[in-house]
Amino acid sequence: MRTAILISGRGSNMSALLAAMAGPDFPARPVLVLSNRADAAGLGLTGGVPTAVVSSRGLEREAFEAELDARLREAGVELIALAGFMRVLTAGFVRAWQGRMINIHPSLLPSFPGLDTHARALAAGVRLHGCTVHWVSPDVDEGPIIAQSAVPVLPQDDAASLGARVLAREHALYPAALRLVAAGGGAAVTVPAATCHLDSLWLR
Ligand code: GRF
Repeated sequence: MRTAILISGRGSNMSALLAAMAGPDFPARPVLVLSNRADAAGLGLTGGVPTAVVSSRGLEREAFEAELDARLREAGVELIALAGFMRVLTAGFVRAWQGRMINIHPSLLPSFPGLDTHARALAAGVRLHGCTVHWVSPDVDEGPIIAQSAVPVLPQDDAASLGARVLAREHALYPAALRLVAAGGGAAVTVPAATCHLDSLWLR
């Protein structure tokens, strides 16, 4: 599947997806990395995959999304992977791409939608935290769950140490979920993990 990755920042999940897609027999290939910010560090890490910037600054939401949509269609994109894309998309845009757009979120949804997930997980005292890959639906962080990976919350954790543990799991989970989605299958796949305690990966 011709895949676009949408980013706004450092692009570590983007890099994990690109590395996986470069491997043999991966059912998705990257055709575009698109950022809403020209200064996104990830734009410099695409290793030759075409990049585009559609700046959201100063544009009405509809105009921004019309431009985004045009770039994606021009590139013949079949699947969108949001990877740290920090613009909330309107229901209209999401509906146009529904079933063809996935996202990774740094918590075990439905717990902790939104921002500052690691600090909020610590404040809540949860003992398990993690990340979720889900279909994007008009309600932010509420689309059907595709895959989750859990990590322990350790007594000495702060938001940075917990966030780093989750991010390492994101880098394994997102490529595995993309493989499953792109292959269009429902079969369980194994998420490679040395430190992983719980993984669930399935297609809904
Ligand atoms: C990740 O934690 C991801 O879960 C969230 O935004 C962050 C992006 O980080 N949606 P990166 O740009 O992939 O390094």
